Amino acid sequence: MIDKIKTLLNEVNGFNASSLQDVEQFRIKMLSKKGEISALFEEFRNVPVEQKKEVGLKLNELKNAANEKISMLKTALETSGSGKSETDLFLPAESMKLGTRHPISVVRNQIIEIFNRLGFVISEGPEIEDDWHVFSALNFPEEHPARDMQDTFFIEKSPDVLLRTHTSSVQVRVMENEKPPIRTISPGRVFRNEAISARAHCIFHQVEGLYIDENVSFADLKQTLMYFAKEMFGENTQIRLRPSYFPFTEPSAEVDISCNLCGGKGCNMCKHTGWVEIMGCGMVDPNVLEECKIDSKKYTGFAFGMGIERITILKYQIKDIRLFFENDVRFLKQFESAL
Ligand code: PHE
Repeated sequence: MIDKIKTLLNEVNGFNASSLQDVEQFRIKMLSKKGEISALFEEFRNVPVEQKKEVGLKLNELKNAANEKISMLKTALETSGSGKSETDLFLPAESMKLGTRHPISVVRNQIIEIFNRLGFVISEGPEIEDDWHVFSALNFPEEHPARDMQDTFFIEKSPDVLLRTHTSSVQVRVMENEKPPIRTISPGRVFRNEAISARAHCIFHQVEGLYIDENVSFADLKQTLMYFAKEMFGENTQIRLRPSYFPFTEPSAEVDISCNLCGGKGCNMCKHTGWVEIMGCGMVDPNVLEECKIDSKKYTGFAFGMGIERITILKYQIKDIRLFFENDVRFLKQFESAL
C-alpha cells in the first residue's frame, strides 16, 4: 500500500493542467467517492494495527498534496482569465485609446482646408510683434483706440514690443516680402486685454485671409465668403454683409450667416434676428498696399478675418468660451469623432 501511495504522490506532484476542466477531471479521478485516494482510505481499514500510524501519515500527506495541487491550479487558471494557460497569439490586440484633438484645432484645420481648396496658402508670423506690423502699416491712426493700453498687451513701450491683437500683422509681413499675386491665410493665436467672461477671452485664435492681384473685386470677396460659409455651416447657409469700418479696409463689412441653429427663423443663439456674425472683411485700403510697397494703381485686394473660437461656438453650440482653455477632458472628449 505504501508503494501505491508513493506512485499516486508522484502522479499528483507531476500533474499539470491547461484548463479548469482538466483540473476537475483530476479531482474526480483522485478525490471523488470512487476516486483512487478514496479507495485507499477504504483499504486503510484493513491495514494491520502496527502499520496504521505510518500508512495513515502517508495517506494524509497524499490527500493534502492532491487538495493543494488542485486549488493551486484552479486559482492560477482562473486569474489568467481565459481559462487557458497558454497565450493565444492569434487574439487581436486590444485597441489603444487615442486622445482627441482640441476643438479649436479641429475647426482651424477645417477652415484651412476649405481655403486651401481655393488656392490660399498658409503663412505664419510671430506672436510678439511691433507697432508697425500690428497697427501702423495697417493704416491705424496715431490715436486709434485699439492701440490703447485697454486693448493691447504692451511688453515694452519704446521701442514698442507688444502681443499681436490680430494676425493681420502676418499679412503685412507677407506683403513686404512677396510680390502679388498673393493668396494667403494666417491662422494663429492673438491677445487682447479684455476681461474674461463667457463671451470674451484675452487669448483667442484667428484665421485671417488676404488676396491681392490685378482686378480683384468685392464680388470675388463675396463669392469666397459664400463658399466658405456653405462649406463650413452647410449648403443652405446664407450670408449677409453689413457696412462696417476697419482702418485697413475700404469699403469694410461685417459678415453674418443665417443662424445655423434655427435656420433663420429666430432663436436664442441669434437673439431672434435669424443672423449671427462670423467675421470682418473688406477691400484692402490702398494706403496699406502702398505702405507695403505694392502698386495700388495696378493691384487691388480683399481681406477677411475671423475668430476660430467664434466659429467653433456657432458650429457646435458651445455656451462658454472659457471651456476651450480649461482642458476638461469631459468637454474635449466630445470632439472625438470630429477629426
Ligand atoms: N483684423 C480684424 C480683427 O482682428 C479682422 C479683419 C481682417 C477685418 C481683415 C477686415 C479685414 O478684428
